[in-house]
Amino acid sequence: QDTEMLRPVRRGAIADYAATVFYLKKALAAAQRFRVLKPVLVAGVPIQLSSVEARALCDAAREAGAGGIFLVPCTLAALWGCLEDPEDPTGSLVVDVGAGVTDVSVIASNQLIVGRTIPIGGDDITLLAERVMEVSYGVRMGRIEAAAVKMDVGVGYYQDEMFEKRRNDPDHKGGFNNVRISKRQVAEFLLQGLEPLFSGIINTLEETPPELFEDIFRKGLILSGGSSLLPGLRRRLQDRLNLNVTRLPEPSLSVIQGVGRIITRFGQFREYFDEQMAMA
Ligand SMILES: Nc1ncnc2c1ncn2[C@@H]1O[C@H](COP(=O)(O)OP(=O)(O)OP(=O)(O)O)[C@@H](O)[C@H]1O
Ligand SMILES: [Mg+2]
Repeated sequence: QDTEMLRPVRRGAIADYAATVFYLKKALAAAQRFRVLKPVLVAGVPIQLSSVEARALCDAAREAGAGGIFLVPCTLAALWGCLEDPEDPTGSLVVDVGAGVTDVSVIASNQLIVGRTIPIGGDDITLLAERVMEVSYGVRMGRIEAAAVKMDVGVGYYQDEMFEKRRNDPDHKGGFNNVRISKRQVAEFLLQGLEPLFSGIINTLEETPPELFEDIFRKGLILSGGSSLLPGLRRRLQDRLNLNVTRLPEPSLSVIQGVGRIITRFGQFREYFDEQMAMA
């Protein structure tokens, strides 16, 4: 009742500055109980974070008591977190499907070669699930229930599998009753919403230097991010792109694992950050 949910970050950038500073202060206090020096932060960010958004993040970090902040594109962090050799010169196609954005990138020798941030993520897929349930079946549901439908049905391949929901919209003819819902119809609706994601990957591949194609076709597409767990997504991508698609073992944690690796072996990644003075 007296609890309000805040979302400090939306679409990979700060949406609520005060809440971000508050959160960072708490996180810093928890990480450094006996503070001597001001800590330097490493943050995984979308590839196409604008300079204004980057500035806001740096300001928030400084206000929370950090001495500086290094920004690393999240797909690069995800790959660094899992590579045997971070200096790997071969090309990799890494796609991070998050809550608010999807980052698509081709990486080689620690460099982002091409990539883009597509403003679609798991939150949008939840909204689509909410909408198809209401518009096609007259079932109104809240975010949590819609997210459960998303995680259960996703964009899988179905024949005529059905599930039941209670219709609780009194305006709908028939009032309160159970409706049978086609998984296939829900999946197809969600899939349509993912169209910009597919075309974003195709456009990125079109901009990729041809000498990296061989590596990418050999290794396939590497998925990270919580929304890469969406049922059926891996196979849909595979069929659409004609590429093998693999998912990192713990996709929700892959970016933070990479950031952790950067922090513990900072010297190894130093070169990457050299041109990026610790901001703030
Ligand atoms: N099993 C699952 N099936 C489908 N979606 C899932 C599953 N588990 C988590 N998600 C979705 O993953 C998203 C969170 O992923 P992640 O933690 O990578 O996002 P984020 O890094 O916070 O967001 P962003 O990268 O957009 O800033 C949420 O939208 C959540 O609903
Ligand atoms: Mg993310």
